[in-house]
Amino acid sequence: MTWEQATLKKSLDKYLVTAKTAKDIKGVPYIGGGKGWKAAENNPDGWWTNGFWPGIMWLGHAIDGDGFWLSEARRAQDIILPQMHGYYNTSHDLGFMYLLSVGADYKLTGSMDALRETLLAANLLQGRWNPAGFIRSWNGEGREGWVIVDCMMNLPLLYSATKLTGDPRYAMLADLHADFTAREHIRENGSSNHIVIFDPYTARKLFTPAGQGKFDGSSWSRGQAWALYGFTLAAMHGRHERFLYTAERVARYFISQIDDNGLTRVDFDQPKDEQYYDNIAGAVAACGLIELNKLTGKQEYLDAALKLLHGIDDHTANYGHGTMGILTRCTAAYDASYGKEKECNLIYGDFFYLEALAKLAGVDPMLWVVDKKKA
Ligand code: GLY
Repeated sequence: MTWEQATLKKSLDKYLVTAKTAKDIKGVPYIGGGKGWKAAENNPDGWWTNGFWPGIMWLGHAIDGDGFWLSEARRAQDIILPQMHGYYNTSHDLGFMYLLSVGADYKLTGSMDALRETLLAANLLQGRWNPAGFIRSWNGEGREGWVIVDCMMNLPLLYSATKLTGDPRYAMLADLHADFTAREHIRENGSSNHIVIFDPYTARKLFTPAGQGKFDGSSWSRGQAWALYGFTLAAMHGRHERFLYTAERVARYFISQIDDNGLTRVDFDQPKDEQYYDNIAGAVAACGLIELNKLTGKQEYLDAALKLLHGIDDHTANYGHGTMGILTRCTAAYDASYGKEKECNLIYGDFFYLEALAKLAGVDPMLWVVDKKKA
């Protein structure tokens, strides 16, 4: 067995055992690390990461075939679907939440209910479009003009909706939003702002707050990773050279910032010797780099992905069945005001680690692309 096959196998083995206790919390896991799973404290059923749990289950279903994966994915989906149906508790994260859950369900089982829910999510995301030129990120008075780079990762829901329906509107909006983000968020050196606040009537740029990074103008590493994988996915879906060009600029910047041990600091502008890591960023970037290698044939991207994944495996992964989750050094935000979880397990780090390993092992179902099932 190759390293990636063996590492994927022990990761899925751990999940197949430990995910069985998730139903005890009657919610959707957000954090592992200890003896039991924990849901998010704030907004537990509608938390933006709640698609990653069913996403892990669908990866397991596609690769391993045990019946547990499907039943646990559907248990989680029954919890998160009322959030979308309730409308008010939604955000641009409709992509993260519903493409990896019901979108994956349709892709892997052909469920027509799952297809309907996927298209409903796409229509709600499309409804967040501001004709000034962008998709609105978050709800709340005063946030009408807030756009975060993370939204690049929600565009595959729109690209998939065009594939599923034949209606080009979804993909056209996604392209417009990606162009806007490339212009307004990505800096000269290939790094990205996290949040940019615009006048919601004119799209005039007003502020670039620190967001989940260290300071205004710094480079929050997970934001760089969302941009890297997000532009790569836009290039795959839209087949536009300009998105590939941006993805490569962002990738070169990200690669230049990886620590020698393969770990990823929370903010690339934090002091170099500050041992404060977010390896979710590394796992997300690895997924993007593997896909960029396939799109461009450039070996440097695959080498960097392997450095990140071996760094996680060597320094942060826990495959023992006595604790929940795999990655141990994940951080929600540099500053606790945007998320207090520091250097712990967060399940979306595990999702991207599994996805990257599955890509290397040649068994990734590619849940970011959902197309019409052939009759
Ligand atoms: N805002 C999504 C994230 O924490 O990456």
